[in-house]
Amino acid sequence: MALRNIRTLGDEILRKKSRAVEKVDDKVLLLLKDMAETLHSSPNGAGLAAPQVGILKRVVVIDMGQGVINLINPEIVETQGSHEVIEGCLSIPGKFGKLLRPEKVKVRALNERGEEFLLSAEGDLAKCLCHEVDHLDGILFIDKVTEYVEP
Ligand code: NI
Repeated sequence: MALRNIRTLGDEILRKKSRAVEKVDDKVLLLLKDMAETLHSSPNGAGLAAPQVGILKRVVVIDMGQGVINLINPEIVETQGSHEVIEGCLSIPGKFGKLLRPEKVKVRALNERGEEFLLSAEGDLAKCLCHEVDHLDGILFIDKVTEYVEP
C-alpha cells in the first residue's frame, strides 16, 4: 500500500470524466487500498474519488468514521428531497461553501468483490456520495456553491 498524491484545484485531471471499471482486478483493489490509506491520512477527509489521485476510473472510497465503503462504478439511482449543506473537498483545501444536495439517495455500485449492492443513505453520507460521484464526472462542489462560508 502507498499514499497517493491528492491533486488540487487547477489540475486539469479533476475536470475530466472517469471511465467505468470493466473488471475488478488486482490493480483496482490496490487503488482502493491506496485511496483508503490516503483518505485516512487526510484530516477531516470523508471521501475520495479516483480522479483526485490522478486516476480516471469510476472508483470511490468513503469513510464517515464507521469503516470504509468501497464503491466501484457508483450510480445515483434515486434521490429524494433537497436541502442546503456545507461542503469542502480535499482537492480544494480551506474552502467551504453552501449548496443544495438531495436529502436521501440510493446508490448502486460494485463492491471490492465485484458484487453489485444498493446503498440507501441520508444526511452526511448522502451528501458525501453525491460529492464523490460528481468528481467522477469532473464536477466540483465549487460549481454548485451558492455562498462560501468561513471554515
Ligand atoms: Ni471532493
